[in-house]
Amino acid sequence: MQRLRGADARFLYNEMPTQPMHTIKVLVLDPSTSRHGYTFERLRDYLVERVARVEPLRRRLVPVPLSLFHPLWANDGFVNPRRQIQCLQAAGPGGLRELCEIVSRVASRPLDRTRPLWEILALTDRSLLSAYAGFMEEEVKTYLQVWPKEGVVELMQLLSELTVFIPSRCLIGLEFRRHLSPDFARIIYRDLAGSLNPLAILLPGLPLPSLRRRDRARREVAAFIAQIVTDRRRRGAVDKDFLHILMTARYADGTSLSDEHITNNLIALIFSGLHTTAAQGAWTGVELLRHPAYLRRVLREQDEILGNGRAITLEAVDAMVVLERAVREAERLHPVPVLLRKVLRDFQYRDYTVPAGWLAIASPGASHLLPELFTDPHRYDPDRFAPERAEQRRARFSIISFGGGKHVCTGMTFAYLEIKVIWSVLLREFELRLLDARVRPSQSSFWIAPRSPCRVAFRRRKRAG
Ligand code: HEM
Repeated sequence: MQRLRGADARFLYNEMPTQPMHTIKVLVLDPSTSRHGYTFERLRDYLVERVARVEPLRRRLVPVPLSLFHPLWANDGFVNPRRQIQCLQAAGPGGLRELCEIVSRVASRPLDRTRPLWEILALTDRSLLSAYAGFMEEEVKTYLQVWPKEGVVELMQLLSELTVFIPSRCLIGLEFRRHLSPDFARIIYRDLAGSLNPLAILLPGLPLPSLRRRDRARREVAAFIAQIVTDRRRRGAVDKDFLHILMTARYADGTSLSDEHITNNLIALIFSGLHTTAAQGAWTGVELLRHPAYLRRVLREQDEILGNGRAITLEAVDAMVVLERAVREAERLHPVPVLLRKVLRDFQYRDYTVPAGWLAIASPGASHLLPELFTDPHRYDPDRFAPERAEQRRARFSIISFGGGKHVCTGMTFAYLEIKVIWSVLLREFELRLLDARVRPSQSSFWIAPRSPCRVAFRRRKRAG
């Protein structure tokens, strides 16, 4: 026990219900370069470990009977730092205004004197992701509704179509999605994405038929988005999608985004993630169907979390850890082929000097199979990511299919959510069997997808009752 100094005790005596004496600090964190994205649980675990090393943060206040003297500080092991670190949800759209409202609410509430006199509140806006989880489930269910009781599907085609519909709904919105018939989606997908090759990237203005088709498709999509933006502005509509975020976003100088910037951002965002998500989603399925023992565990988990036909929520998706490990193992075994960086300054690697101006290429396919990082690296073993093994923590950037550093994939959280929702719905609604046991990878410069034939036989599950 330690007695509070008079100067410190004065803050307690001066405190009124309407005039708290604590101070408050606000920290805005950018989680975009965090390798596995942000989760409150990870942040709390990290903070708890740090707090344990700072003795004053483990003290609590003990009043002296009849207030005969200043209160005492006790460090008697009764403090549980986890209780001091809480998560708050911000209201949408999660901008500066919502942050200020929460900060002023917290600042005007005195601290609870029966606990340590500090607290950390992590503020997250997951309202958009929550909405996305619902939209995603709806899209997959609508897509599957027209499937017969049983049949055969080409897996990559299934994933390619779903990964056009889902981001169109979540990012551009319902108006765009309603106009996106399967045929229109196929044409857009083929024409816009068909030009994703090294030649088109190095010489985007070449007069090739594929690039003319790309430009026409882009013009069509841009005109459609511009029409939606105009219509929403006229109606003053507030929608839960990324288009709304862009329409209400401001640059640092307070100006809003032009319609052209909004369209460019949306097209870039959608097409950055189409093939990669389809490929990783398809590999997740191929590997699961090849490994029935692990698949059974995934099904059991689905049953535990969403038994009795409960609707998917973001919290339910978060809880699907067995499925998540399967997605991650697919990411490890079937990553994007290359990551590119332009070398800005000469640097030394062992006996080599890499000069500025060169292109540096990293190969996730090679680094994901390093035996010093991953035990028995060629084996399908999603449990390597379970907390007790956590092989991905053996080195920074051990898994780099989403890139790393400043330019790490912006859509990683979205892609994981999307793939988990797709497989959650598929596995619960259908019994699936992989017909082509020897699925080979297709080789492309930017992604590696399962090559056709990669057929899956499906049969609708009988509903209980
Ligand atoms: C499994 C799915 C995906 C994979 C494997 C993937 C992979 C990648 C990779 C390797 C990069 C380059 C990172 C680097 O150079 O360090 C990247 C960048 C990017 N990705 Fe993804 N991605 C996926 C899904 C998505 C989705 C769904 C979106 C959008 C909703 C998206 C949006 C972006 C954007 C905007 C960038 C550029 C980031 C920057 O340069 O700052 N990605 N992605």
